[in-house]
Amino acid sequence: MAMAMSIVDIAQTFIFLVLLAHTASAQLPAPAPAPDAGCNGIFLSYTLQGRDQIRPHVAERNSQPYSFRASATVVNSGTRPLRSWALQITFVHGEILVGVDGAVLTSGADLPYNTTAGDAGRPTSFTGYPQTDLLTPIATAGDPAKTQATVNLVGTLFAGPKPYDPLPSFLSLADPSYTCPPATNATSPTNLTTCCVLTSAAAAAGADDDSATDPARNFLPRRTGDLVITYDVLQSHEATYLALVTLENDAPLGRLDGWQLSWRWQREEFISTMRGAYPREVDTAGCLYGPQGQYYKGLDFSKVLNCDRTPVVHDLPPSRANDDDIGRINHCCRNGTILPKSMDVAQSKSAFQMEVYKMPPDLNRTKLYPPTSFNVTGSSPLNPEYACGVAIPVSPSEYPDPSGLASTTVAVATWQVVCNITTSTKKPPRCCVSFSAFYNESVVPCRTCACGCPSSATQPAVSATCSTTAPAMLLPPQALLMPFDRRASEALTWADQKHLGVPNPMPCGDFCGVSINWHVATDFTGGWSARLTLFNWDGTDMPDWFTAIVMDRAYDGFDQAYSFNATRVGNSTIFVKGFQGSNFLLGERNMSGVDYPVPGKLQSVFSFTKKTTPGIDVIAGDGFPSKVIFNGDECAMPLRIPSQGTKQAGGGVISMQLCLLVSSFLLLLL
Ligand SMILES: *[C@@H]1O[C@H](CO)[C@@H](O)[C@H](O)[C@H]1NC(C)=O
Ligand SMILES: *[C@@H]1O[C@H](CO)[C@@H](O)[C@H](O)[C@H]1NC(C)=O
Ligand SMILES: *[C@@H]1O[C@H](CO)[C@@H](O)[C@H](O)[C@H]1NC(C)=O
Ligand SMILES: *[C@@H]1O[C@H](CO)[C@@H](O)[C@H](O)[C@H]1NC(C)=O
Ligand SMILES: *[C@@H]1O[C@H](CO)[C@@H](O)[C@H](O)[C@H]1NC(C)=O
Ligand SMILES: *[C@@H]1O[C@H](CO)[C@@H](O)[C@H](O)[C@H]1NC(C)=O
Ligand SMILES: *[C@@H]1O[C@H](CO)[C@@H](O)[C@H](O)[C@H]1NC(C)=O
Ligand SMILES: *[C@@H]1O[C@H](CO)[C@@H](O)[C@H](O)[C@H]1NC(C)=O
Ligand SMILES: *[C@@H]1O[C@H](CO)[C@@H](O)[C@H](O)[C@H]1NC(C)=O
Ligand SMILES: *[C@@H]1O[C@H](CO)[C@@H](O)[C@H](O)[C@H]1NC(C)=O
Ligand SMILES: *[C@@H]1O[C@H](CO)[C@@H](O)[C@H](O)[C@H]1NC(C)=O
Repeated sequence: MAMAMSIVDIAQTFIFLVLLAHTASAQLPAPAPAPDAGCNGIFLSYTLQGRDQIRPHVAERNSQPYSFRASATVVNSGTRPLRSWALQITFVHGEILVGVDGAVLTSGADLPYNTTAGDAGRPTSFTGYPQTDLLTPIATAGDPAKTQATVNLVGTLFAGPKPYDPLPSFLSLADPSYTCPPATNATSPTNLTTCCVLTSAAAAAGADDDSATDPARNFLPRRTGDLVITYDVLQSHEATYLALVTLENDAPLGRLDGWQLSWRWQREEFISTMRGAYPREVDTAGCLYGPQGQYYKGLDFSKVLNCDRTPVVHDLPPSRANDDDIGRINHCCRNGTILPKSMDVAQSKSAFQMEVYKMPPDLNRTKLYPPTSFNVTGSSPLNPEYACGVAIPVSPSEYPDPSGLASTTVAVATWQVVCNITTSTKKPPRCCVSFSAFYNESVVPCRTCACGCPSSATQPAVSATCSTTAPAMLLPPQALLMPFDRRASEALTWADQKHLGVPNPMPCGDFCGVSINWHVATDFTGGWSARLTLFNWDGTDMPDWFTAIVMDRAYDGFDQAYSFNATRVGNSTIFVKGFQGSNFLLGERNMSGVDYPVPGKLQSVFSFTKKTTPGIDVIAGDGFPSKVIFNGDECAMPLRIPSQGTKQAGGGVISMQLCLLVSSFLLLLL
């Protein structure tokens, strides 16, 4: 009996234990998906989902075309958000991409896309769209919708027959803070996987302080950059939405004249109306004959503004600011001029509104997607070039109530695009600097070909007669005011008088639209002074010009400029502009009594004290700027400074007043 009891007991205990074990295992977290195991960084995978032989059938086995379907995934399994993710896939089977979903080609190219021709051996880059940022599992309680993205690809490839699995050769991330070991097909013959990890440098640098997301709504934090484009959806309807696009200049020295903005619609949208700006082309043929015309049968497309896939828009002229039909938008209608905030905060922003029509399957008030591939350029060659990132969702903008009530209106959705000035070495500068000084009667002119050389294709006559490599010849001061041809003959006479060598052939000109002369005018015990002259060789006037002078050692001693409004702005930079109401640099023009066109010219003396910069040696080089920027463009600097020769520096005993008198007299002479 006791035996029987104990058997029952044992059985009960056993069942209990089994139940216990069962409950315990149910409480254990589910094991991580297989390919993810072991990756604590960014997991990348590419899966070939299938391929089918297509016509034409060819004899050469490895050139047979196949249609293929593949998917690529990017999973954030790390501790840092992955912003503006871009996946790079190196295709090696002549892939032609026909359909891309979940991302767009970073290059903005059209489909079908020949990866061999388009990338020439480099990887094909896909930028996340509409999901641009992958948050961390920690910040989202492991929500895969926020931590991972899938790109679906459809296309054609050329490969040998099955069972061979034509996979790409490499997977990586465009983000330089990650390194990705070579991807392998170890998990499965049709899967290529790798796990990218933070580089030790990036890990050491620590997370950016904006790594946290907006706690309230899980938006990404707003970012900063040189030019920030904000895309606000103000009203959303089933089929249309109203967007406010704002361009704001945050670069201390960036500037745009006659800006032009373009972007790419990804979801067959089109623009029906616009205020505060205007598309370059009013053309609706693309809609009429496209899917838009099919879908919106009742819509009068003659009233639609633009159906380009890549619309290009311009600012309106000031005369349209109060136009009831296309104007009346705050910050609009300034002819595309965007100045730095240090020039004028009111003119550092441009804005326009547009009504956008959506297409199926986006006909829902909550289905909103921003366009991609924003590109902003200025019409002046002096304007910098910008490279724009992708649109990221940020917390909605707030606006003061338009009717003046003490309330704020919140945008339905807001995206932000950050554009940074690219310091590309390809673009030659458009302005140059010449140096002169009181102790040397020659001017060190702008460099030969400072703003590019004449090409033998476009200017054969010029390029055949001058040397692009010979150093520029020293000039007499009066030659600074003359056009280059005239300057060259003056240089010859000067070389003859001063017994200087003459290169054969003569050096080419500087080909700059703007040149700037820095003349060290005095150097005495307590201080020194210089004279800055701006020359505009272009036919067009320049309103609201500005320039920035970087003085490495003399910066702290800057006292004042007399005819310009100059201030110290940090980083050894003196920011210079005209006084209010006279901030205008004329273009080159004919002048009576002179047989050559003269440049527009502005000039001011700058005075410096040596009290705050003891030990500076003005003549040895401390009195010359190391960098000069005009209207956002970094100017070409001369390769040498005027040297003192054997003469001693004069002026040691001259008083400041006398120096200024002398320099203002020189100012009248030039
Ligand atoms: C893709 O581009 C490569 C290189 O330009 C070219 O050889 C190939 O024929 C192109 N493929 C197709 C299908 O056009
Ligand atoms: C291949 O990758 C896909 C997507 O990442 C995944 O769903 C699938 O399970 C993987 N297959 C194997 C055999 O690992
Ligand atoms: C992985 O790819 C290589 C080269 O493409 C191939 O030789 C190998 O068989 C593949 N491995 C598996 C497990 O399929
Ligand atoms: C633009 O510059 C800012 C800093 O000035 C930097 O944080 C940001 O990553 C840059 N953005 C792009 C798209 O390069
Ligand atoms: C507007 O800019 C264009 C060139 O960008 C220029 O030709 C025109 O004179 C400007 N108009 C005004 C009113 O400034
Ligand atoms: C619009 O989208 C929301 C959320 O995605 C959904 O609940 C709703 O049913 C959609 N409305 C229509 C008319 O499709
Ligand atoms: C931006 O637009 C300019 C002028 O239209 C063009 O030259 C440039 O290539 C474009 N940049 C990009 C990245 O598309
Ligand atoms: C100074 O220069 C550094 C790097 O060149 C830059 O990051 C910083 O923003 C500049 N500061 C100011 C006040 O312009
Ligand atoms: C000089 O510039 C400063 C800063 O932009 C401005 O506040 C001031 O009014 C200007 N002075 C004159 C006389 O234009
Ligand atoms: C300046 O004069 C030259 C010839 O003397 C003439 O060809 C040119 O058109 C004039 N330029 C202007 C802006 O008047
Ligand atoms: C003036 O400066 C230039 C450039 O440094 C130098 O070549 C020349 O010899 C100097 N002239 C005299 C007279 O010192």
